[in-house]
Amino acid sequence: MDKLIKRSQYCGEFREEHIGQTVCVNGWVAKKRNLGSLIFADIRDRSGIVQVVFGDDTPEEVREKANKLRSEFTVGIKGVVRERESKNNEIPTGAIEIIAEELSIYAEAETPPIYIKDDDNVSGDLRLKYRYLDLRKPMMQNTLAFRSKMYNVIRNFYYENGFVEVETPVLAKPTPEGARDYLVPSRVNPGMFYALPQSPQQFKQLLMVAGTDRYIQIAKCYRDEDLRADRQPEFTQIDLEMSFVDQEDILDMQEKFLQRLFKEMKGIDIQLPLPRLTWDEAMNRFGSDKPDLRVGFELKDIAPAVEGCSFQVFTDAIAAGGKVMGINMNGCSEKFSRKDIDKMTESVKTYGAKGLVWIRKEENEIKSSVGKFFDQEALQKICDVFEAKAGDLILIVSGKKEVVWASLGFLRRDLANKLGMLDPNEYKLLWVVDFPMFEWSDEENRFMAMHHPFTSPKKEDIKYMETGELDKVYADAYDIVINGYEAGGGSIRIHDSALQKKIFEVLQLTEEDIRVKFGFFIDAFKYGAPPHGGLAFGLDRLCMLLLGTDDIRRVIAFPKNQNAQCVMSEAPTIVTKQQLEELSIDIAIKEK
Ligand code: AMO
Repeated sequence: MDKLIKRSQYCGEFREEHIGQTVCVNGWVAKKRNLGSLIFADIRDRSGIVQVVFGDDTPEEVREKANKLRSEFTVGIKGVVRERESKNNEIPTGAIEIIAEELSIYAEAETPPIYIKDDDNVSGDLRLKYRYLDLRKPMMQNTLAFRSKMYNVIRNFYYENGFVEVETPVLAKPTPEGARDYLVPSRVNPGMFYALPQSPQQFKQLLMVAGTDRYIQIAKCYRDEDLRADRQPEFTQIDLEMSFVDQEDILDMQEKFLQRLFKEMKGIDIQLPLPRLTWDEAMNRFGSDKPDLRVGFELKDIAPAVEGCSFQVFTDAIAAGGKVMGINMNGCSEKFSRKDIDKMTESVKTYGAKGLVWIRKEENEIKSSVGKFFDQEALQKICDVFEAKAGDLILIVSGKKEVVWASLGFLRRDLANKLGMLDPNEYKLLWVVDFPMFEWSDEENRFMAMHHPFTSPKKEDIKYMETGELDKVYADAYDIVINGYEAGGGSIRIHDSALQKKIFEVLQLTEEDIRVKFGFFIDAFKYGAPPHGGLAFGLDRLCMLLLGTDDIRRVIAFPKNQNAQCVMSEAPTIVTKQQLEELSIDIAIKEK
């Protein structure tokens, strides 16, 4: 190998003040232009690009060697910084260039299968297959550095506030009552399995029992769930827990953290206290427990305006205890064609809606897809609910409340997005508080804990557990929502064994279930547990939001694809028979 020319500066750091200095750079050849007597090479490292010239002032043998350079060769160059004749204002180093005196070629490179530039338009899987090349792009290196700075801000803030960082096990016990676990077989305990933690929930609560008082961990979590653009099977939480506190103390600490994070990462001042919505309010006004408050288009209940009408779809929904609700896309009527509305109808059907009713308010007339059932006066009555003006488009869904919320909640954000109204540089943060304690699971045919079974029900609602009115039980649980994303969630925990037992009973866990699944946890609470609570932020999601992207893979160095595969290393993969035998495992793949 050619000799190592040790770096004096990173490529992206050169400015006019360096003119005249002898410097050394290391990096990759981003581009080479050969003009005969002059060779130009752009050299790239993680900080940016600098132009190097092999010209008259370069020794002949070095110029000859430069002839061999190709894209992505790794090199070391020693030379003198000179002012450029034709400056390039597009890049920060565009005022200077380096006149090469020495050149070391450390490694040659084949033609890369993807372009190493930010806007390469290459498909996701190809980028992931050659992730090490993808990460060579300045944008991706900046992302890694941005995320790394976040770790620093996080640790500084929580350390300053007396939090202790503790690592909890990655080989843990399977999690009951959560998403699906990733299991790891134990060789020394044949037939037994660890689970990778879905979160350090139980450990952090045990740390409170132990007296750690304030815990933080930047924790890897693993969940075998269906993937979406904002979900990965392994992701990172900023996980925390505090003792001898109430909900106010926790929210107060976390919003101060967010204020610091936004200031240090983006220079943005977040006003505190953050606004709060109860879960009921969020659902009824925005159709979502993670409402995007960058736009309005609030949901309105139009049941009173359509009661007793001849349109049976509405009256049936009301009679069955459901809802008839709508949104007013103010002033947007002309922006959506009949075809657009057909597409909207298809999309709300995926949320279980049977259809979508539209009303267009015009100067002298009100048009509607249900014009047959409503005369102008009746349509006006609906328009009044929305204070509709000419040019407004009202979209209505009826049916079970969950379907109505989900459909309209989706529409208001999706349409705002399509109209380009969601500015990634505008941030709307809010707390959603007072979540329902339980939610019905059709799959399990029983009530499940909406957050997790260690969450404390609201004191005043405990009585409804006695009467079996579980839908009236709300919890001391909260989410932090940013621009329509759930950026974090947490709760006050149960620290009283009797109440915890009661919750398990409501969740229809048998004595045996409780003992096997949570025995150690319940036992711990017999020996003096402090009142405590906490929260976990999705670190990847925070990073994604701060960078204004909606693809979580962008902020993870080596992410998985939609099928939970690492296309680069080809994990998961089959293993040898011998490995399986050692683990006492037989594989029988079921046909799908
Ligand atoms: P929860 O399950 O709400 O709470 O998770 C906390 C936060 O983690 C992020 N998150 C994810 N990010 C990327 N990919 C995923 N698959 C994924 N799943 C969750 C979200 C979410 O808000 N132990 C509790 C917290 C507590 O009660 O203290 C917990 O894990 O941003």
